[in-house]
Amino acid sequence: MRVELQAVSKTFARVKAVDQVTVEFSSGRLTSVLGPSGCGKTTLLNLVGGIAPPTSGRIAFDGRDVTELPPEKRGLGYVFQNYALYPHLRVGDNIAFPLRFTSMDRRARAARVAELAELVRVGELLGRRPSELSGGQQQRVAIARSLAKSPGLLLMDEPLSNLDARLRTEMRAEIRRIQSATGITLILVTHDQEDAMAVSDSVVVMRDGRLEQVASPLDVYADPASLFVADFIGNPPANQLRVRPRLGVLELADASARLDLAAPAGLADGQEAVMAVRPESIQLTAVDGATDGAPDAPDSAQAARVVACSPAGRDLAYTVRLGGAELNVLASPDRPIPVGAAVRVAIAANRAYFFAPDGGGRLA
Ligand SMILES: Nc1ncnc2c1ncn2[C@@H]1O[C@H](COP(=O)(O)OP(=O)(O)OP(=O)(O)O)[C@@H](O)[C@H]1O
Ligand SMILES: [Mg+2]
Repeated sequence: MRVELQAVSKTFARVKAVDQVTVEFSSGRLTSVLGPSGCGKTTLLNLVGGIAPPTSGRIAFDGRDVTELPPEKRGLGYVFQNYALYPHLRVGDNIAFPLRFTSMDRRARAARVAELAELVRVGELLGRRPSELSGGQQQRVAIARSLAKSPGLLLMDEPLSNLDARLRTEMRAEIRRIQSATGITLILVTHDQEDAMAVSDSVVVMRDGRLEQVASPLDVYADPASLFVADFIGNPPANQLRVRPRLGVLELADASARLDLAAPAGLADGQEAVMAVRPESIQLTAVDGATDGAPDAPDSAQAARVVACSPAGRDLAYTVRLGGAELNVLASPDRPIPVGAAVRVAIAANRAYFFAPDGGGRLA
C-alpha cells in the first residue's frame, strides 16, 4: 500500500508536533521515521493510523483519500511501543483476537494463527500467557497479532526500545525478514539511527515536526542534506569545523591552521562555513622524528598532534589537535600512532560536507 501525506500538520495547544509534512511511503518497502525525542514521530504515525485527525492536510492510501476514515477502516496493523498484549489471553488467542468479528470459521482461524506463529517463530509458545514470555517473544506475538487480518500497511512505534542490545539486533533482522516475506508496507518509528540504518529501504529524518531529509540509509549517511542530519547520523558523529577558503585552500576560520584541502566550488574566498567530516574520512600519517615538542610552524598545513587514543571496536579512536580545533578520527589499528606524535591530517575531499553556519543548509 502506497501512503501519501500532503502538507499534513498536527497542532496541539501550543506545539506544532507535525508541521507541513509532505512525504510518500513506497508500497512494499520498509521506511524508518527517525529523529530525536519529541520531534513528532509518534504523532506522524498516529496520523497515518487514523488515531488522531490532522489539523490540516490530506492523507491518501493507494491514491484514495483516507483523511476522515477511522482507524479500523484503514486496513492497517499497529504495533505499539509497549506491545499491549492481553495479559489474560494465551498467545494463540492474542494472535487470533483481531479475527473475532470476522466471518472466518474456527478452523480457518486456527490455520491463520498457526501460519502467523510460524512466520514470527512462536509456534511452541501458543499455550503460554504474555507474562511467561521474554520481551522479544512478546514483540513477535504483537507483530503476529497486527498481521492477523492481512493488512496492507504495518505501523510500528519504537518496536525495539525495550530490548537489550543483542536481542535488539536479532529482532530488527526478524522485522526485516517478516517485512520481506510478507511484502507489507512497513513504517517503523525509531530514535535510534543504527536501527534505522540497519533495516530500512528508506529513511525519513525528522526534526521539530519537519522533514530534514528523505533518502536511502547510504545517502543520509554519505550525502547529508543538513548539518542536523550529518550530526544525528553516524557514531561517533561527524566532526564539525568552522572553515573558510583562503586563496583556494581551506583554513580554520580562526586562522589557527590550514587544511590540506582545496576549497569546494560553491564556497567563495573568505566565506565562512561549517565543514562536517566523518571520523573515518580522515587519514593520519605520523610525521617522523617529531613525537614531542611543538609542531613546526603554526600555519603549516599539517600542524597536528595526537592527544588521545582508545580502542573502538575494530578501529582505534584518535583525538587529534589541529590548531584551535579537535578532531575525532577512526583508523585501523594496523599501524598505531602513539599519543603525542605529530601527524599529517588528510581529509577525503569527496567526504567533506559544507553547511551555512547559521541555518545549517548544505552549501557544497
Ligand atoms: N496529546 C498531546 N497533547 C499535547 N502535546 C502533545 C501531545 N502529543 C504529543 N505532544 C507534543 O508533540 C511533540 C511531538 O510528540 P511525539 O510524541 O510525536 O514525539 P516523538 O518524536 O514520538 O518523541 P519520542 O521519541 O519521545 O517518543 C512533543 O513536543 C510533545 O510534547
Ligand atoms: Mg514517540
